Amino acid sequence: MSPRSILAGIGAYLPERVVTNDELARTVDTTDAWIQERTGIQQRHFAAPHETAAFMGTAAARTALADAGAQPSDVDGIILATSTPDQAFPATALRVQAALGVTKGFGFDIAAACAGFVYALSVADSMIKAGQAKGVLVIGSEVYSRILNWADRGTCVLFGDGAGAVFLRAGEGTGTDQGILSTHIHAQGTLGDILYVDGAVGQPDKPGHLVMHGREVFRHAVSRLAEAVEEALAANNLKAADIDWLVPHQANRRIIDAMGRKLGLSTDRVVITVEQHANTSAASVPLALHQAWTDGRIKRGELVLLEALGGGLVWGSALVRM
Ligand code: COA
Repeated sequence: MSPRSILAGIGAYLPERVVTNDELARTVDTTDAWIQERTGIQQRHFAAPHETAAFMGTAAARTALADAGAQPSDVDGIILATSTPDQAFPATALRVQAALGVTKGFGFDIAAACAGFVYALSVADSMIKAGQAKGVLVIGSEVYSRILNWADRGTCVLFGDGAGAVFLRAGEGTGTDQGILSTHIHAQGTLGDILYVDGAVGQPDKPGHLVMHGREVFRHAVSRLAEAVEEALAANNLKAADIDWLVPHQANRRIIDAMGRKLGLSTDRVVITVEQHANTSAASVPLALHQAWTDGRIKRGELVLLEALGGGLVWGSALVRM
């Protein structure tokens, strides 16, 4: 039997600086009321210059390792999801590897926007199942404050910075169904122009700012995410009622609520952090998972469904027995 990927530890890092809607409204033509009504967001964290994706990813990874009671020497590989890497290369995962003092194994980044963490989890799970690694750090780390267009009030109020991480450990012969039960990842490149960043180091004349057609993204998000959840349930012969916790991508309270309603899930089974963190892209799912883990809501043995969607379009799910 192939090993299961156990979520042995969960970690997170948020920049010190908190920016409320009212503070944003001093420089952006917006109001706290508009932002809260349309998105649920009350505040976000913005990174200081030294708080890069590698810096925050390292901090989140350290807390995940500590939570797992693991050492850097237990890490066989690091997969880091980010759209805001420190450098084009080396991969941000390798900056984290060096900072942690990990001296073996592999490391690479995954660019799958807001679905990056679910993508990374899926790849790590496949590698553990294939016997290629026994301990893998999966990290989502983002500094979207550096790619926002401050002249576009329809997007710049929606995002925040932060990092989350899990340490996956191969579990063999435990006799239970603990660990990642399934992952499903999807992409539709033909929808690449509804949510994108208009440049990168390969295109020096483009500023590299986030562009979004909000209404279209909203429409696709609700239907794709509901499909992803149904796909995960069907693959495991489960019903929505079997799920203890839904940990969705934290983009918008209205998307989360619409999806919960579609699935008939009560809000007390959905972890929501978008009010405090805004949309932290690849970091949003592990940040939410970390919050519900450390405040004691999510417990060992419970069934947790993670899902996310992002620019690409990319989307997916992971079903986990904690
Ligand atoms: N403050 C005040 N007014 C704003 C504003 C802001 N920050 N941003 C936009 N507006 C205005 C618009 O100018 C527009 O004004 P008008 O009617 O006078 O032209 C009005 O609000 C409605 O704009 P619209 O863009 O149609 O709003 P919306 O109801 O679609 O809400 C989003 C905008 C972005 C909140 C919504 O589309 C959304 O949540 N989309 C999904 C976004 C998302 O989650 N993306 C990430 C997925 S990974």
